[in-house]
Amino acid sequence: MPAPNSLRSDPARSVLDRLHEAAKGDRIRFLSLAPKLVVGWLRRQSFAQTVTPEAMKECYIPVSRQAGEFLHLTARALGARNVVEFGTSFGISTIYLAAALRDNGGGQVIGSEIEPSKHAVANANLKEAGLEAWSEVRLGDALETLRDVPSPVDLVFLDGWKDLYLPVLEILKPQLRPGAVVVADNIFTFRKGLRPYVEYVQSGENGFESTTLSISEGFEYSFYTG
Ligand SMILES: C[S@@+](CC[C@H](N)C(=O)[O-])C[C@H]1O[C@@H](n2cnc3c(N)ncnc32)[C@H](O)[C@@H]1O
Repeated sequence: MPAPNSLRSDPARSVLDRLHEAAKGDRIRFLSLAPKLVVGWLRRQSFAQTVTPEAMKECYIPVSRQAGEFLHLTARALGARNVVEFGTSFGISTIYLAAALRDNGGGQVIGSEIEPSKHAVANANLKEAGLEAWSEVRLGDALETLRDVPSPVDLVFLDGWKDLYLPVLEILKPQLRPGAVVVADNIFTFRKGLRPYVEYVQSGENGFESTTLSISEGFEYSFYTG
């Protein structure tokens, strides 16, 4: 019997095809944000100070297919049951993670999304993908909504606003099991802003071993040593 892989079959496969296709429109949507980004750059503001989640409520900003498949494989290899995601958007990465939990035979991904319209669409997409039983997307600021996640946490995916990676990790750290994996996206896109995060997980002094992978826009792949 081949191992189950929910990504190979409908409904998850066709929902991902539709969402990745729709996300291509981000190129145009980003253009409308260009003036804001230029002003922010001139004022030396961080991305989070310049662009609010509300301003990006039409943008998918998703993981690539390759990155999604990497998350799915990681959750499968860990035999993950409890997965936490900071930054769900329209639910593309959440679908890859929830599919892994389904293929593992149980568990749940707790997602988080601060923008109400995105939260509603993410839930609808997960339902359409047949994965609502393996996912719960919490509405609100992840600094609040991820305070009481089920433990032990096997896998964390950080993909929300970059200035919050460290505070979110600090909230989740007591719930991590030894051997848990933390993946953080956009290390190359936000080299300067994410330097404190990378130093924290790579220093060897905070309970993590870590390296930066050339996947997507740079995945920081960290292992919790306990
Ligand atoms: C890069 S997108 C996530 C993409 C998603 N992981 C995917 O692959 O489809 C980041 C998301 O984080 C959300 N976000 C930003 N700050 C947040 C916060 N404090 N709490 C929860 N979500 C937040 C934004 O609204 C945005 O939708």
